[in-house]
Amino acid sequence: MPYQPALLRILHGLITALVIFALVSGFWVYNTYDQRWGQLPLPNLEDIQGIHGTGALTFLLLLPLFVIYSFHWGYRRLIQPQAWQQLHKIGQPSSWAALQKILNSVMLLAATFAAITGRLMQEEWLPRGELNHWAYGGHLLAWLVMLVALILHIGLGIKVGGVPLILSIVQIKIRPNDRLQRWLQGWRLTPSRLLLAWEILIMGGIIAAFILPVFSS
Ligand code: HEM
Ligand code: HEM
Repeated sequence: MPYQPALLRILHGLITALVIFALVSGFWVYNTYDQRWGQLPLPNLEDIQGIHGTGALTFLLLLPLFVIYSFHWGYRRLIQPQAWQQLHKIGQPSSWAALQKILNSVMLLAATFAAITGRLMQEEWLPRGELNHWAYGGHLLAWLVMLVALILHIGLGIKVGGVPLILSIVQIKIRPNDRLQRWLQGWRLTPSRLLLAWEILIMGGIIAAFILPVFSS
């Protein structure tokens, strides 16, 4: 079975749980107040916005840690400078792997977009029936993008590494060589210019997500 570093499994696992929670509780918010594109027979939860907001805020607090991990420890799994050449060899395993790395990088962008638009929302809007705020539209779009990206991310994982790869990332058993000193080995400051640019974009977005509500309220 392929091996994933302990720190990756921990951060990736927490982020995954929080994203799934945000997708479900976010849908529940939509289901309670909006229903323009259909609805499921879910019970009405009084404080569904608060429940979503709490999980989502935890997600936002953890996101920069996962991003820093991915860019400086897990950079081999993000988009590579030679990605375009590899993509052109359509159908070969290397092109699928290149696509997977691009998609991993897109996951971080999708998560950031969801965080920014979520932070721009106000809890009073939906109960008042105000469904036309652009921040809400953006946040709904972010939900869709996140869902599609997640499905593709899992699908490409299966395509590239099969079920064993998927199992390796949710594996919780700690191995002897998972000792704490080893967690932080293999660090690189700037793996490539491409990744540096991508990281500035994403970290800029996360910082914006933290501070934007200060200006909009
Ligand atoms: C149909 C889907 C969704 C709806 C209707 C929705 C709705 C909302 C609402 C009403 C708020 C404001 C709540 C508050 O301020 O307490 C909010 C905040 C937020 N949402 Fe969503 N959301 C959805 C999906 C998502 C997803 C998929 C993510 C992340 C992956 C996400 C991340 C956030 C974040 C980070 C906040 C800010 C939390 C805070 O500052 O307390 N949302 N969302
Ligand atoms: C059930 C859900 C998920 C599964 C099964 C899954 C699976 C995987 C697997 C197998 C890898 C390792 C790929 C490799 O070794 O080449 C990986 C890496 C990655 N995943 Fe996920 N993933 C899930 C959810 C998510 C979510 C929600 C996000 C982001 C919001 C995400 C972002 C990433 C990133 C950025 C990497 C690369 C990490 C690094 O740089 O080391 N994944 N995922």
